[in-house]
This record gives sequence, C-alpha cells and structure tokens, in this order.
Amino acid sequence: MSQDNDLKPETLAAQALHFLDAETGAVVPPLHPSTTFARDADYAPRGASTYSRYGGPAVDQVEALLARLEGGAGALVFASGLASSAAVVMALKPGDRLVCHAHIYWGFREWLEDFCPRFGLDLRLIDMTDAAQLDAALEGGAALVWTETPSNPLWEVIDIAAVAEKARAAGARLAVDSTAATPVLQRPLELGADIVMHSATKYLNGHSDVLAGALATRQADDFWQRVRFNRTGVGAMLGAFEAWLLLRGLRTLYLRVRHASATALFLASRLQRHPKVQQVLYPGLPEHPGHEIACRQMDGGFGGMLSIRVAGGRAAGLGLAKSTRVFVPATSLGGVESLIEHRKTIEGEASILPDDLLRLSVGIEHPGDLLADLEQALERLAP
Ligand SMILES: Cc1ncc(COP(=O)(O)O)c(C=O)c1O
Repeated sequence: MSQDNDLKPETLAAQALHFLDAETGAVVPPLHPSTTFARDADYAPRGASTYSRYGGPAVDQVEALLARLEGGAGALVFASGLASSAAVVMALKPGDRLVCHAHIYWGFREWLEDFCPRFGLDLRLIDMTDAAQLDAALEGGAALVWTETPSNPLWEVIDIAAVAEKARAAGARLAVDSTAATPVLQRPLELGADIVMHSATKYLNGHSDVLAGALATRQADDFWQRVRFNRTGVGAMLGAFEAWLLLRGLRTLYLRVRHASATALFLASRLQRHPKVQQVLYPGLPEHPGHEIACRQMDGGFGGMLSIRVAGGRAAGLGLAKSTRVFVPATSLGGVESLIEHRKTIEGEASILPDDLLRLSVGIEHPGDLLADLEQALERLAP
C-alpha cells in the first residue's frame, strides 16, 4: 500500500490506498473469511492477524484508508455505528460529565439516557447551537463533548471549531458524529475535534448492504487505546466480509456524495417554492440558520440529506411517504437509492419531531426523476 502524502483523498479512496496483491497483482484485495490465523514454526504470528475479534486483513485495510481520509492518527471499525459511539462513551469513568447536543440521532440519545445514569455518568443534553447553553454545561469541567453535524433529522449545524475550543478549555475531548457530511465534505479532526464517528452503514459504504461503524482519532492516546479495548472486550468488531464490502463502497465515496449533495441542493431549492411545502430543512439553503457556519466548515456541498415539513400535518406527512414511486419508503440513509421516511412514526409519540416532517435521503438517481416523483406525490395531497 502506498503512503504517498501528495495524493488527493479521492485518489486514495478510488485505489483503496493503491492496493495491489503482491502475489497475483489483483487490484481488489482477496477476502479472508478465516477467524483464525496459523502461527509459524517459531510459534510467532505470521502476519498482523491472529483472531478476527482483534482484526484481520480487510479490517486493517479499511481502517488505514479511513484514517487517511479523515486525516487521523488511526481509525477503528465496529459492527455498527452505535457500537462505535458506545465504545467512546464506555471509555469514560463514573462521575465524568458528558455534554451532548440534544438533537442527535435519536437511537444514540435513547441509549445515552438509559446508560449514563446507570453507570454514574453526568449526562447534560443541551441545544449546542446556543453558545450560552454550552458554556453553562461546561462550567466546572467535563470529560467528553458529543455532537453531530449536520444533525439527523433536523440538519442543524454545529460550529465544530468553536465547540472544540470550549471543550478543550473545559478539559473535555470533542467527538463529532459526521455521518451525514462524510470526509468528502467535512473533516472534524482538522477543525479541532478529537474523535470523528460515522455510521458507516450510511454513505461510507453507500449501498445499503453493510451495518458498520467507524471512528478516527486525532491522537492515538490512552483514551483511544481504551476505546479499542472496549471494541475487543465486548466483541463489537466488524466482520471480514462487511469490512471487505465497506472498502469496496469507499472507492466510489467521493463521486456518490458529491452527486447526492448537488441533487439535494437542487431539490431543496425547488421544494422551498412548492405551495404544499411549509419548510425545507437543508444547510445548503441561505435561509437555514446554520448556513453561514456550514459554508465555513463544509467544503464542496452540504450533503445529501434534507427534511421537509408539509402543509396538512401528520396525515399529509404520512400521505406523502406513501405516494412516492422513486423515493423508497424505508428507514436509513446514505445509499445509492433515495429514501423517504416519516420520522415520527419511527421514533414514536415521545419524539421531539413535528408530525409533518419527512426525511429525504437523496441517492444518485437522475435529479429530474426525483423532483418529478416528489411533485406528483405532493399533488396527490389534499388541497
Ligand atoms: C447520524 C447517525 N449516527 C449514528 C447512527 C447509528 O448507526 P448504525 O445504525 O450503523 O448503528 C445513525 C443511524 O441511523 C445515524 O443516522
């Protein structure tokens, strides 16, 4: 594998760090499903791998690529995005304070609200778009600040550099869930974050056929070693086949994300003018409250995710989700196929989300087909 520092990330991704199989010249790495690896005549490991809960060739390859794409000192892949987030939180000690943006991916917030009190962690859920709330939560110090930007599914934008500075002053590490942005559009470690997290299930893999999580770190320090130990200790390692598929997905990451971003901006601008759409939540729109920060910290687009609020409340929201023909009514995001979802149905009545909100994950289909599909579905809503 080449470590050429002058190559651009899209080159590193397309060539999986210029992988060439030493024996055969194959440009695609072989898949090693083996869980165990034989030792040599001196009883020493023959290569880097011994047992697949600790890692394996495909895991090593995909981690090396992810570390380069995020500009980190190392990367770790996990069996899911949530497993990777949990490994960071479980590296804290009882009594530590965790300051977290409240409007993050709801599944993680739900887990934090259950786990933190039972393990003696002082969880402070705040609106991190409000600097005063962050200052108050950091008063007296903290161990970890967790944020997500743009945040799912309201697509709020958090100023990573500003939060990083405050976190550092309070003695806390900053971890950023950058799933919606990907390293194509946003590199949190360069903005001062300590750890960047991805649900690799989404854009990094990009084909809706792998469940995976990933972390990259600015420093391979003791905290990072504890995170690694948590992965091994609870067996949250990514499987060999999933790691192999993830590496394949990453080869087209830059093309996919740029195309989806351009289409999402096109759709957001057009939907904003539609009489049956009350609000479009997309950081690429100048009207979005986080637009100016997004312009500063994102490069090359604002992502393929947007949400819309339709006139007519819950019935209209559900009606729209049921009447698209190209957008598939399914959960998740970041795949090549566009998805539409009525989030309140998924999150339940306790959800903070409005009844009329639909989340759109924009894929790589023709932009005109996607717009026409949404327009025909909107037309079918009651006037
Ligand atoms: C922003 C974000 N972070 C984390 C997760 C959790 O990832 P996974 O489903 O891979 O565990 C999700 C899942 O939807 C997500 O959207």
